[in-house]
Amino acid sequence: MQYQWYPGHMTKAKRQMQEDIKLVDLVIELVDARIPVSSHNPDIDELGKQKSRLVLLNKADLADEAKNKAWCAYYKAQGSYAVRLDARNRGGMKAVQEVIQEACREKIERNRRRGILNRPVRAMVVGIPNVGKSTFINSFAGKACAKTGNKPGVTKGKQWIRLNKHVELLDTPGILWPKFEDQTIGLHLAWIGSIKDELLNKEEMALELIRALTKEYPGALKERYGISEEETAAQVFEALAKSRGCLKKGGGLDDAKAAALLLDEFRSGKLGRITVEMPPDME
Ligand code: G4P
Repeated sequence: MQYQWYPGHMTKAKRQMQEDIKLVDLVIELVDARIPVSSHNPDIDELGKQKSRLVLLNKADLADEAKNKAWCAYYKAQGSYAVRLDARNRGGMKAVQEVIQEACREKIERNRRRGILNRPVRAMVVGIPNVGKSTFINSFAGKACAKTGNKPGVTKGKQWIRLNKHVELLDTPGILWPKFEDQTIGLHLAWIGSIKDELLNKEEMALELIRALTKEYPGALKERYGISEEETAAQVFEALAKSRGCLKKGGGLDDAKAAALLLDEFRSGKLGRITVEMPPDME
């Protein structure tokens, strides 16, 4: 899925988010566990500052488990709740349910003290495109899925999914725009496939990926392609292309094919579980 964002889209998305956030107590933000910094739009910190926050470190199955844990610890230290997750797997939803319950406990208690009983706490899912929002909502609401009807007034036009007697989830996720003005952020978003590949030079993306992998995950390329990593990135790239027979018809190496192959294998986890970004205090 590829997206391109224009200023008009961003303004509209932001306005929608501002409206929707008013309706909820808890903001559930999905980020990609491989690049939690680049897949987070900092505007949500401002938009959701009055609300409880839960960060779901999604696609954790593709990310480095030690780093998943470090990220969860980081978010907790920042005052957010955090869970690492594979949204395709319904088994992981119990942990999320429990944390939502915990995150909302204060609100439920406050309501009770004011004599407000049986008012469910409301949550919404937000995140940039492709982080797994729809997959999460489908898995999560799978069995709970009793949609409550529109209520006139405040919730006009909104559909809520009742998860249990304490919690309701807005059934449409809030889409944040990726912030890729910064080159490194743009590169990382491109590596995981969240920016149109045509916007960037694939060969350059592949070379940068080789540089990052040989530094942070030495041995990963050697193991997958049987090539030496003790060379320049360009030489490693050439060896990779040869090892996979990426050749042009008239002779010579097919760089575009080799770059696409490397990016594809990285995205699908064939190079191992890799996290590109570490929590700021652990870099
Ligand atoms: P969005 O609503 O935030 O835009 O994301 P969406 O749920 O459409 O998910 C985007 C892609 O990411 C989907 O793959 C989905 O299956 C995959 N995905 C979601 N959560 C996880 C996860 O925790 N781990 C892994 N490995 N993948 C996840 P797709 O290729 O677009 O579709 P499909 O191949 O599943 O049909």
